[in-house]
Amino acid sequence: MSILSVGILLKSYDVFISNISADLLNSSNSFQGSNDLSYRGFNQITTPNLDAMGYNGIILNRHYTEAICTPSRAALLTGQYPIRIAMQGEPLKAGEDRHLPSDVQTLPQLLKELGYDTYLVGKWHLGQARRDDTPTRKGFDYHYGYWNGYVGYFDHEIPSPISPSITYNGYDMKENFKDAWMDKGKYATHLFTEKALDVIDQQNIDTPMFLMITHLAPHTGKDGLVEGYDEQEMNNTYSYVEDLQRRRYLDAVRHLDHSVGKIVEKLQQRNMLQNSVVVFMADNGAQINGRFKNAGSNFPLRGEKYSHHEGGIRNAAVLYSPLLEKKNYVHDELMHITDWFPTLYSLAGGNVATLNRIDGVDQWPSLSQNMKSRRKNMLINIDEARLYSGIIGYAGRYKLLNGTVQSGFYDTFSPEPTSLEQMDYDVAAILNSPVNKAIEESKYNPVILDEKLITGLRKYSSALRHFPKCTNKPENPEICNKYCLFDLWIDPCETENLINDRSKAKIVSTLKTRLQTFWRQVSPQANKIRGCQFQSSKI
Ligand SMILES: *[C@@H]1O[C@H](CO)[C@@H](O)[C@H](O)[C@H]1NC(C)=O
Ligand SMILES: *[C@@H]1O[C@H](CO)[C@@H](O)[C@H](O)[C@H]1NC(C)=O
Repeated sequence: MSILSVGILLKSYDVFISNISADLLNSSNSFQGSNDLSYRGFNQITTPNLDAMGYNGIILNRHYTEAICTPSRAALLTGQYPIRIAMQGEPLKAGEDRHLPSDVQTLPQLLKELGYDTYLVGKWHLGQARRDDTPTRKGFDYHYGYWNGYVGYFDHEIPSPISPSITYNGYDMKENFKDAWMDKGKYATHLFTEKALDVIDQQNIDTPMFLMITHLAPHTGKDGLVEGYDEQEMNNTYSYVEDLQRRRYLDAVRHLDHSVGKIVEKLQQRNMLQNSVVVFMADNGAQINGRFKNAGSNFPLRGEKYSHHEGGIRNAAVLYSPLLEKKNYVHDELMHITDWFPTLYSLAGGNVATLNRIDGVDQWPSLSQNMKSRRKNMLINIDEARLYSGIIGYAGRYKLLNGTVQSGFYDTFSPEPTSLEQMDYDVAAILNSPVNKAIEESKYNPVILDEKLITGLRKYSSALRHFPKCTNKPENPEICNKYCLFDLWIDPCETENLINDRSKAKIVSTLKTRLQTFWRQVSPQANKIRGCQFQSSKI
């Protein structure tokens, strides 16, 4: 597509902000699909910077990720469905020997070939048993952060299992291969923000860069706890929220939102925003049950992290770039996390036709011009160890599920967060947010945000809440032990299984055939026994 080929490549910056440990997605106001961002229609949380990013750019309404973090990150960085590289299973445990295959090219490796400097700040979670498995051997010039799935918000420790009954805590905060002991005690969100700002400050403005920021927040940290920064302040800010865990969650999200504000502001200060693509996304739905539940919400969707229902995979994502031809809209086209690989690669000047073995589709034409997506189907995932799989077809309309995980434990509806409507949506906070100010100042947006535009976009992006099938949900929806078919256009909350509907027989058989084809392509998970053996009954 046009703009980057106009010779500004050498001065272009792809900044990729990903909230990848987020579990952020589903609960809040208007922006995060069904997660806790205020653009999604709830007033309890305000995420003014993220909201401003989406309103000024694009709100991705049908952005799908994998249902858990390791597979999502693998899909993002390789452009392939995780089943092709044996990364479709459980999140990696501390000390476990699973990793990205050595013959697979990662996005940062390819961007380096195009002259990019590449940085990762935050979580990795794609292997660490050998040095060769870690970020700086997988395409990143620099990494500051942790290798495992989570750490404590302040102490940066992760419990590592020795046996089912004994664990010890190890420190996991590193600058490349060096333990960053001097940063022990610093709130993770602030620490990563500081490092990301340093990276941007020190970047040679004539060299393009790829910066991926993968926050801990609002994933649970050590001991299954999301931690806010300052409990006193947090108690004051969220005095209207009864549940202490929920308050901590909201506070973690608030600091995350500030982080995005600071980063976009810095890009503008350095005159880099004009050639940047800034993406924010969650890597899976909020976990609302089990040991690592984080007090997030996927309301009104069904399911959560681990589930192949929408609440696990249809996650919050927003995109801002001055290079978009159309902005200020909600993108309703099917998009999968693997699509960023060819999309960013081609924006950076790469030729997507030369990439082999990728499942992603270049979505830039669809995004930039609000056109139909070239993607018509999407494998959700296949877990051949726990026997559950799913696929979406027919341009995003129909979903076929084949089995579920842990007997449907993760397939419930998120309760509607309480006390949401007590407050007004704070439009002024969005207009005054650092992101909105930076974008205004850059003068690259012909449309200036105002209350009317914000209200309209927000109404649209939170429309799911008002779908008849979503407002009138069954108490105990049928668990999908075998096959289920859902019409996502009419029933995004997956309340009605259409598998026995005669008029849908052709659709069912087509989707089954496609899913079967993927089953034959599965590269079996390594370590599936070991990966699971230390975990308590509910993950
Ligand atoms: C915050 O509120 C909780 C009760 O919800 C209380 O237990 C805790 O001590 C408070 N923290 C501070 C620092 O005030
Ligand atoms: C459904 O899952 C089972 C395993 O539980 C698998 O053997 C079968 O091939 C799958 N069906 C399709 C259509 O993919």
